[in-house]
Amino acid sequence: MRPSKASVTQTWLLLTQLCLLKDFVIRCVREFIRRAKSMLLSQNMVAESAEISVISVAKDPNNFQIAEIRIHDSVCIEIPSSEESLLLGSVKSCSANDIDEPDTDEFIPKISSGSYADKGDYREYMEDEHICIDDLSDHLGSSFFRFPVPIAFYGVFDGHGGSEASQYIKENATRLFFEDAVFRESPSIVNAFYLKELENSYRKAYLLADLAMEDESIVSSSCGTTALTALVIGRHLMVANAGDCRAVLCRKGKAVDMSFDHKSTFEPERRRVEDLGGYFEGEYLYGDLAVTRALGDWSIKRYSPLGVSLSPLIADPDIQQMMLTEEDEFLIMGCDGVWDVMTSQYAVTFARQGLRRHGDPRRCAMELGREASRRESSDNVTVVVICFTSPPATPQRRRIRFCVSDEARVRLQTMLES
Ligand SMILES: *[C@@H]1O[C@H](CO)[C@@H](O)[C@H](O)[C@H]1NC(C)=O
Repeated sequence: MRPSKASVTQTWLLLTQLCLLKDFVIRCVREFIRRAKSMLLSQNMVAESAEISVISVAKDPNNFQIAEIRIHDSVCIEIPSSEESLLLGSVKSCSANDIDEPDTDEFIPKISSGSYADKGDYREYMEDEHICIDDLSDHLGSSFFRFPVPIAFYGVFDGHGGSEASQYIKENATRLFFEDAVFRESPSIVNAFYLKELENSYRKAYLLADLAMEDESIVSSSCGTTALTALVIGRHLMVANAGDCRAVLCRKGKAVDMSFDHKSTFEPERRRVEDLGGYFEGEYLYGDLAVTRALGDWSIKRYSPLGVSLSPLIADPDIQQMMLTEEDEFLIMGCDGVWDVMTSQYAVTFARQGLRRHGDPRRCAMELGREASRRESSDNVTVVVICFTSPPATPQRRRIRFCVSDEARVRLQTMLES
């Protein structure tokens, strides 16, 4: 004997109309399972492993529909469209902050990375440093750091005037960027509001890192470093840059620059520096520095007591954010030694060929680095390659978030408590 379809559907209808917040939904679903189970048991149908999956057919998360509910393989309820609209009648739309991402875009790339660092022929020290952390939550320890989605962190730091500054940033990066400044609180969802906050505190982290170097006696005041960092949170990519390293995204084979090169040849930077009274000799700021933004270099930096930079050389990064899609294949981060001898598009095409052949980001980073050397880069070369792999498609099965009217919520509350 089977439970009547109508009674199960009715219970579900009532419950779904009444769910509001996430934990409320969980309670609702549990309650529904409990009731469905007892209904099945009372009718001598064993359902030890009752399970519900909801299939969304809507593209707009504000206007979802429930197509089917499965309690058990033997009990599957399809909701006809007339009932759907009934159900939608009392569903009120979510506020923007309640939605992290549209259900249709629940793409979260799988991440793997590789890096390569080589010294060029003409300098005395390897001044480049880099950092690759594919799983930041794990790296920092889960008790400190709880994130609702995977999170990864990468950095390339190209030092000048010695290697202390780049080493300092590399060694202290997770503390400077995550413990001191940015992630005091992990969010429960990653939404537009959170990403804006993140951008602000990330910017602050750059400035704090810069100030920290002023205090540290181990970093001499004529020593500095550029800092290019990338953060991947779920499907959000955020790239911050101060200096002339560069990050390039491969979108279906096309190169998309994710940072600007802060040097005299980049017109907006040149203008910014000159507006502040700075000058270039040749391509060098004050005849000395190849970059217009960097951390450290305190011998030529000055801040007002309010933390406003008084010199053209600043640590303030440009920050670019991007929502990754299935078309985004990988990100290349490289120091100027790479970009001196190849264009963004050349690097992307070159890397893509390699990855198609072997799929190994480490090997790809090495091949890119060697290609740069072959093209006679006289600089130290550092390359990081981060691959975004799409998980195999699981069509149509999506998580759903419910939002309903207050009146409906009160009805459920009453029902659950009775
Ligand atoms: C990292 O920071 C600490 C504390 O400021 C400092 O003592 C240490 O030398 C730094 N590491 C490097 C490699 O500079």
